[in-house]
Amino acid sequence: MTHKGYAYIHTIGCQMNIYDSEKLFIILEEIGYERTDILDLADIVICNTCAIREKAQEKAYSFLGRLTAKKKKKPHLIAVMAGCVAQQEGAKAFDRLSCLDIVLGTHAFARLAGHIKDSLSGRKKITDIEESDTIFETRPFDTARSKVSRFVTIMQGCDNYCTYCVVPYVRGRERSRDPESIVREVTLLAESGVREVTLLGQNVNSYGTKEGTASFPKLLEKVSRIPDIRRIRFATSHPKDLSLELIEAMGDLPKVCNHLHLPVQSGSDRILKKMNRGYTRSIYLDRIAKLREKCPGIALSSDMIVGFPTESHGDFEATLDLIREVDFDGIFAFAYSDRPNAPAAKFSGAVDEDLKMKRLNILLDLQETHTEKKNQALVGKRVGVLVEGESQKRRHCLTEEEEGLPQMTGRTESSKIVHFFGKDVLPGDLVEVCIEKAYSHSLWGGILKKA
Ligand code: 5AD
Ligand code: SF4
Repeated sequence: MTHKGYAYIHTIGCQMNIYDSEKLFIILEEIGYERTDILDLADIVICNTCAIREKAQEKAYSFLGRLTAKKKKKPHLIAVMAGCVAQQEGAKAFDRLSCLDIVLGTHAFARLAGHIKDSLSGRKKITDIEESDTIFETRPFDTARSKVSRFVTIMQGCDNYCTYCVVPYVRGRERSRDPESIVREVTLLAESGVREVTLLGQNVNSYGTKEGTASFPKLLEKVSRIPDIRRIRFATSHPKDLSLELIEAMGDLPKVCNHLHLPVQSGSDRILKKMNRGYTRSIYLDRIAKLREKCPGIALSSDMIVGFPTESHGDFEATLDLIREVDFDGIFAFAYSDRPNAPAAKFSGAVDEDLKMKRLNILLDLQETHTEKKNQALVGKRVGVLVEGESQKRRHCLTEEEEGLPQMTGRTESSKIVHFFGKDVLPGDLVEVCIEKAYSHSLWGGILKKA
């Protein structure tokens, strides 16, 4: 294959986008482009975009806007907007970005090579936002975080239509990958040194139901059987579809981490109904109780939206109250943002932006106290840590012996970051660490033994 030039991809958004960007790299490599981390070297630049909130969308426009100047110096540069904003905006994107050459929607990745060829032969302004029901497969590949831990997308799209959410409109109907293809991919990753996989989907609980292949708990069993995979994580679970079968599988399969990310979004029944979430506060709390019964000590995290249209002080208090009651290990919280296609954009009763920010800060401050308390409770406890590599920042050493030791970093099953001195410890090792100090976002410990 002749060398066509360099390719740079800027990824905005979730773990699925990180995975998708790797797919784009595979396609680019197959047609002769070499990957680069230096923007100025690139002959093709792709921005893989996120449409979940307006801020993420604006980031994409501003990144791509910078290419106008670069194209003046390098006229052959191909600029591509890919992913969710591309799917949402279609040809409208050209109105704001004169430098853009290709708008590549979420279903169009398989056709990227052809579009590049057309663009190189002079075709201007290519838009591909055609939808498809199939999942485009490439060969297995490397994904981010570290070499020890990888993401694997197991399904695409969403059929839930939460009223605030753009995903069903930009990612299409829910569809699941074939379990055997997932097992093949994870097996290859394990053979290349990966020890932890995170299975990704908008709602993994409904994995395989349409296709009638394997249920999600059955997929977990299959992935658990792959030698050398030591930990399995997954995201995201929808509370309305969290089955007893899955709770049991989490309790029974030792490789499945004792951690669940279960986005609740709000603690107010009135707001949950307007969001079309399909559960009430008490159903959510009941699921949490079942999880804690079957999986003692399970770490729980969640997503919250503040300032959804008509959210009153009382509704917000109900959310704070739920946070106190569940005692989450961590929360991702967001100020509600109107999305063009999502029904809530037409709801009356918008909450003032300043008030949204005030509520967001109150919520985050409350969660900070819970996170700190959870971290403090680990001091003196033994935890299993999957080693990811050497710590990027060295901690102050007290003795000469400590100076000579490598400082390693890894994660607990609950995904908390742990640093420790580790001699003869390698990425991918599972070690037992006794926690000595807790900080707000990480832990420090002493290694006891290798598992
Ligand atoms: N505004 C704010 N947050 C949103 N999320 C999804 N859509 C919106 C929106 N329009 C949040 C939800 C979801 C997470 C991925 O992003 O909390 O779980
Ligand atoms: Fe969006 Fe709801 Fe689907 Fe999650 S479940 S992707 S919030 S529509």
